[in-house]
Amino acid sequence: MRILVTGGAGFIGSNLAKRLEHDGHEVTVLDNFFSGGFANLVDFQGEVIAGEHGAAEPCARCEVIFHEASITDTTVTDQLFMMRNNVEGFRHVLGWAARWHARVVWASSAAVYGNLPAPNRLTDKPAPLNVYGYSKLAMERLAKRWAAEHSEVPIIGLRYFNVYGPGEQHKGKFASMIYQLAQQMKGGKRPRIFKFGEQKRDFVSIQDVVECNLGAMVADHPPQAGVFNVGCGKAHTFNEVVAGLNRALGMELQAEYIDNPYAFFQTHTEADITQTRELLGFAPKHTDVAEGIQAYAAAGL
Ligand SMILES: NC(=O)c1ccc[n+]([C@@H]2O[C@H](COP(=O)([O-])OP(=O)(O)OC[C@H]3O[C@@H](n4cnc5c(N)ncnc54)[C@H](O)[C@@H]3O)[C@@H](O)[C@H]2O)c1
Repeated sequence: MRILVTGGAGFIGSNLAKRLEHDGHEVTVLDNFFSGGFANLVDFQGEVIAGEHGAAEPCARCEVIFHEASITDTTVTDQLFMMRNNVEGFRHVLGWAARWHARVVWASSAAVYGNLPAPNRLTDKPAPLNVYGYSKLAMERLAKRWAAEHSEVPIIGLRYFNVYGPGEQHKGKFASMIYQLAQQMKGGKRPRIFKFGEQKRDFVSIQDVVECNLGAMVADHPPQAGVFNVGCGKAHTFNEVVAGLNRALGMELQAEYIDNPYAFFQTHTEADITQTRELLGFAPKHTDVAEGIQAYAAAGL
């Protein structure tokens, strides 16, 4: 198939583009390199277009669009900048999809849940805490309205939880906590986590995220403008992450517990992936974060 991956120089987009290419598809990457890293595309042979998702159609008709492009710095407070890029950019992409009759699989975020108690269910009333999370919610609502007018275009939103794995180095302080702690430890420092490390997150491996996207690409009769949780379905504590890193890196460093400066901080995220399993055939392999970290370390962490 001919496939367009927006945000294809980014962490998730580049992993997806390379896998699709490996599977024999003709893949075009579109990215404005705002936060992406060229190094992610060195092994990608397909066409790379340096451009905006908010511009004119970037290429000839594609049958599927994976839309990963987004401002991913969750600390941005410029609301217009965030909304223009994420929501208006998505509106353009939906326009291409309508003209091409292309399926759209796009990246929403667990940030739409904000601080809601876990497990995080699709029926929860969204409560984003920042404009990044709100932009994803606005995109979900836009997709719903769009689908009502363009019923021939399946639009599938994936609410990613905490994704980790190879290809995230360029994200710096926005790379996964697993990556950040590994760098501290490899630099000879004790891993610094908030007191007392019992906060929980649903950490999901990039391999599982890619598989979920592939499932969404081929799913029969997905609900129109449906959204799905994409986590491993289990929460692990920060202490468990440190233990997994020690094991994978062959170290024995004790965590250094520091005060949490944030007034609002998620203490527990955990994706309810019932619908993702049933309708997209999602079956995450790395449901034990220690195993996922081991695989990450083997690939170069
Ligand atoms: N990594 C996670 O844990 C996570 C969690 C929840 C949601 N997400 C979502 O998944 C998607 C991919 O995230 P990522 O972790 O790969 O981040 P990333 O920053 O590595 O990738 C985003 C890519 O989008 C590109 N981009 C930004 N604005 C653009 C524009 N106007 N036109 C074209 N390209 C543009 C960037 O240059 C970058 O390559 C994003 O939509 C993000 O919001 C990621």
